[in-house]
Amino acid sequence: MFKRLQPDAAGGAVTVFIDGKPFAARTTDSVAAALLAADADHCRTTPVSGAPRAPYCMMGVCFDCLVAIDGVGNRQACLIRVSEGMRVEIQRGKRTLGA
Ligand code: FES
Repeated sequence: MFKRLQPDAAGGAVTVFIDGKPFAARTTDSVAAALLAADADHCRTTPVSGAPRAPYCMMGVCFDCLVAIDGVGNRQACLIRVSEGMRVEIQRGKRTLGA
């Protein structure tokens, strides 16, 4: 659905794991940008109805990009830059405490 404007642009790559699957993201990607580049169709589901949500505003306003990063839930994917070996998980429903 999404494609990079400059697919061959220079820049380093880092490997992130999205729901356990490796993906080569750019060092300049936010987690949300990496999710979109990886063709993830959603990054969370709502706590009440389970409706899928995906990054929308890309600037920290809508909170539709919440994911679990390295085991910590409710992280705004659009405000966090990827790093090598980062584990990103689709957040299903509400965040659990102490997990
Ligand atoms: S995409 Fe809207 S807060 Fe992250």
